[in-house]
Amino acid sequence: MNPVIENIKARRSVRLFDGRKIDKKTLEALIDAARWAPTGMNSQPWRFVVAQGDEFRKKLSALALPRYKKWLEKMPQELKAMRQEVDEKTGDPAYYGAPVVVFVIGKGMTSDFDCAMACQNIMLAARSLGIGSCWVYIGQLPLDDAEMRGALELKEGEKVYGPLVLGYPKGNFPAPPPKKDPPVKWL
Ligand SMILES: Cc1cc2nc3c(=O)[nH]c(=O)nc-3n(C[C@H](O)[C@H](O)[C@H](O)COP(=O)(O)O)c2cc1C
Repeated sequence: MNPVIENIKARRSVRLFDGRKIDKKTLEALIDAARWAPTGMNSQPWRFVVAQGDEFRKKLSALALPRYKKWLEKMPQELKAMRQEVDEKTGDPAYYGAPVVVFVIGKGMTSDFDCAMACQNIMLAARSLGIGSCWVYIGQLPLDDAEMRGALELKEGEKVYGPLVLGYPKGNFPAPPPKKDPPVKWL
């Protein structure tokens, strides 16, 4: 199979990591891959915050945990059951103990689309280097905290996409969840 399509199909959301760090050069290569995403009017409306220091990541996880518990209380039983296994395994339901969290931050008319594509570029590039990733919307929960907003230097009108967690998977990349045949109308 074509290696690009193979890589697209091999990307998986990874939620268990082996604890290895990702070196700076590799992280730079992932951010470089992001900037090649298409953007409305070539606006490139993004900036990236790469959290790799242990202390900062621990603070993020500690802030996320009580917020996550509150959020989960309101969720249907089915979702609670789904979350239980991975929550127990990682003890970090927002960031899964990943060594790196990337916040993609954007502002502008097309930034929702542009930044989502930048995120996908990062995740695909990561997969091609044997690095697991996961878009963790839940990882936005601590962003009501003033210190966090300060650390990310969030300005009026800016939105956060992802964040993405990155790390080397513990064991193999997980098996794919069921992927449906999409409805397609051919004209
Ligand atoms: C917008 C978006 C938000 C997501 N938020 C979370 C999240 O908060 N936590 C999580 O574990 N996975 C999250 N995911 C990952 C999805 O659960 C995952 O992509 C889906 O189950 C399909 O699995 P796959 O990525 O391995 O194909 C998110 C994915 C997207 C695109």
